[in-house]
Amino acid sequence: MAALLQTRLTISYKDKTVLREVCLEINEGEVLGLVGHSGCGKSSLALAVLGLLGMKDGKVTGSIRWKGEELLTLKESAWLKLRGKEIAFVPQSPLSSLNPALRIETQLAEAWKLHQSGGKQECQKAILAALENVSLPAEKEFLRRYPSEISVGQAQRVLIAMAILHRPSLLIADEPTSALDAITQSEILDLFSHLNRKLGMSILYISHDLPSVASICDRIAIVNDGEIVECAPPQQIFFAPTHAFTRRLVAALPSMPQMPEKRRGASA
Ligand SMILES: Nc1ncnc2c1ncn2[C@@H]1O[C@H](COP(=O)(O)OP(=O)(O)OP(=O)(O)O)[C@@H](O)[C@H]1O
Ligand SMILES: [Mg+2]
Repeated sequence: MAALLQTRLTISYKDKTVLREVCLEINEGEVLGLVGHSGCGKSSLALAVLGLLGMKDGKVTGSIRWKGEELLTLKESAWLKLRGKEIAFVPQSPLSSLNPALRIETQLAEAWKLHQSGGKQECQKAILAALENVSLPAEKEFLRRYPSEISVGQAQRVLIAMAILHRPSLLIADEPTSALDAITQSEILDLFSHLNRKLGMSILYISHDLPSVASICDRIAIVNDGEIVECAPPQQIFFAPTHAFTRRLVAALPSMPQMPEKRRGASA
């Protein structure tokens, strides 16, 4: 597998360093989990990879290579072409991420127009295909609804549809199930797994909940104290962790999570 994304980055806010020399590699078609406690810097890393850390007055140094090209020196005009098209983002809180005043269709069409210049028919076709891919009703009636007229789970699917409209190579999902009930959480996890298999999309799946990511990740990177302390397939993380922090994390779990057969043999 060729590396899509390679990072070696240090992230700080004012005089506080949040992440130090964090090296991550995501390969084509791979699902990489990024797990760590609240405040350890997971969202900051996601924003850095999306070129958005400046919005929060954060500073990133080091290197972020995308398909071999250095992103840290990219101009904003180049970021605008890449962000949302090649690297897309699924945020944490679905309802607050949608505009309550606009119909679902308008919001999806706006996202489509950011990177496409085709006509209305082409746009409709792309939107309906995206809705089907996230198992939402590909119907006019659904598209005419406002965010207040759909469930939180459906809102999260709309955001995922928006993120995959342009068939990005990498999807970054930042705690995408934390606002959902347990059953909807599990359905959304299955959806990410389906998108990875069906569309071959790589996924950086961020979570503070180690068991929840076990079923969909090829490898899991554990963050603690500003560093990645271990990065390995779920099988190793759960049954043969090498770092003391990972061992403590696993020992604190009430039970071992289910891991599908296909992930068990994934290589590091
Ligand atoms: N704009 C900011 N200015 C100063 N410090 C910030 C800023 N944004 C985040 N931080 C700090 O950086 C650290 C990492 O924050 P970040 O949001 O990346 O953590 P996280 O791992 O995503 O947490 P959570 O699991 O709660 O979402 C935290 O200590 C946070 O308080
Ligand atoms: Mg976060």
